[in-house]
Amino acid sequence: MELRKTRNIVNKNIKTIIFLIIITIILLILIRPLLKNSSSPPYNNPSALNINIPSNINYHAEDIKIVDNQENCDIFTGEWIPNPDAPYYTNTTCWAIHEHQNCMKYGRPDFEFMKWRWKPDGCDLQVFNPFQFLDIVRDKSLAFVGDSVGRNQMQSMICLLSRVEYPIDVSPTSDEHFKRWRYVNYNFTLSYFWSPFLVRSNERDSDGPTHTGLFNLYLDEPDDSWSTQIDEFDYVILNAGHWMTRTAVYYENRRVVGCRYCQLPNITDLPSTYGYRRIFRSAFKALNRRENFKGLVFLRTFAPSHFEGGLWNAGGDCVRRRPSQSNETILEGLNMDMYMTQLDEFRVAEREGEKRFRLLDTTEMMLLRPDGHPSRYGHWPEENVTLYNDCVHWCLPGPIDSWADLLHHMIKMEARRSYKESLLRRQKKMQ
Ligand SMILES: *[C@@H]1O[C@H](CO)[C@@H](O)[C@H](O)[C@H]1NC(C)=O
Ligand SMILES: *[C@@H]1O[C@H](CO)[C@@H](O)[C@H](O)[C@H]1NC(C)=O
Ligand SMILES: *[C@@H]1O[C@H](CO)[C@@H](O)[C@H](O)[C@H]1NC(C)=O
Ligand SMILES: *[C@@H]1O[C@H](CO)[C@@H](O)[C@H](O)[C@H]1NC(C)=O
Ligand SMILES: *[C@@H]1O[C@H](CO)[C@@H](O)[C@H](O)[C@H]1NC(C)=O
Repeated sequence: MELRKTRNIVNKNIKTIIFLIIITIILLILIRPLLKNSSSPPYNNPSALNINIPSNINYHAEDIKIVDNQENCDIFTGEWIPNPDAPYYTNTTCWAIHEHQNCMKYGRPDFEFMKWRWKPDGCDLQVFNPFQFLDIVRDKSLAFVGDSVGRNQMQSMICLLSRVEYPIDVSPTSDEHFKRWRYVNYNFTLSYFWSPFLVRSNERDSDGPTHTGLFNLYLDEPDDSWSTQIDEFDYVILNAGHWMTRTAVYYENRRVVGCRYCQLPNITDLPSTYGYRRIFRSAFKALNRRENFKGLVFLRTFAPSHFEGGLWNAGGDCVRRRPSQSNETILEGLNMDMYMTQLDEFRVAEREGEKRFRLLDTTEMMLLRPDGHPSRYGHWPEENVTLYNDCVHWCLPGPIDSWADLLHHMIKMEARRSYKESLLRRQKKMQ
């Protein structure tokens, strides 16, 4: 009797202990993510960005949280929505703004155009976080290859990153067409290769039929100035487009095959997409053929210009003050042709090569920003310069800053993908 009672008590005690252990385990499982969260700074909260956060926090791919619907979200289709927190730098906090895009300096009277962010239809896109971005690209290198819109993007990135660190200039030459910047604390390198045609070119006539220079373009020969220097880069962002509207004589196999508005006797005028298709074909082929190149290639798609009331050299201007909504405008004409052409060649490159190609599709989002160009605020009004109204580049700060939101998202996805792949490889090894 006594014994049974004792056993019962022991039994009861064991049950209680097991119950407590189970509760504790459940609690630990529930609390763990909270504990983990509390150890990382609240980077998602924009107002927290003003806090001085130590720059040596290392983010690992597994710490990068991505809301699930973002993984399959088409981040390139959406609308511009108001963002009262923007801009994240000004012409006084950032020295990297190119003169011709320093719209506030040259008296642009409105500032609404800075206060929008890109909202994809299917998900929310996080605004660029310079701390997290620099942690992801630690020990890596990024090259912008293309025209001055690529430089515009690089300068936007330097300004966005300037909340964390300014790079030092480690350019190999004094030639402003080839810049190299180093983020010392992150061992991150940014480079810029000016190659507006992506292929070899030279100026045939500095005047030409439209008084803007007539070029020789060797459509099947990639421009060595970038293509031979690219192996070391982890990320390459390619772009081209606006220079293809210039007059040019096209060569293939070193023979003239036609031209664009060259008005030379016996040279066939070719459609505008003829050369555009071939320069991308050559650039992608060059990358696919480079054995030592292991980087990720982004095609930053064509960003439409917004001349209204005339062509760029005939009084056209861009005076709108608000973004368009996606139902107010459509991609058409030359913009559409150029976009489709580069997409075709992108797909061919993806299919044919072993390299990794990604689309940084800025075409639709920028089509919706007629308000974001310098227009006449790229220089003093009384200055005697031969600059036309600029409806091609983008004011800084301005809508081009949102390209960093896209890039950050995409690079985050890559980090996540490669982490998953390395897990798989490890699992395979253990089997
Ligand atoms: C910055 O912009 C302001 C107008 O917002 C202008 O007065 C000032 O001169 C500019 N400063 C620089 C360094 O560009
Ligand atoms: C900096 O990054 C490069 C790769 O881009 C790497 O080879 C090098 O070891 C890194 N340097 C330091 C000091 O970590
Ligand atoms: C153009 O082609 C025609 C016929 O082939 C030839 O007679 C003429 O000399 C050529 N003109 C030039 C400037 O090459
Ligand atoms: C575009 O859509 C908005 C609602 O999202 C609507 O208010 C507006 O009238 C539409 N504009 C046109 C031109 O259809
Ligand atoms: C600009 O050029 C016009 C005529 O070409 C001249 O009258 C004017 O003084 C020039 N302005 C400056 C600031 O040089």
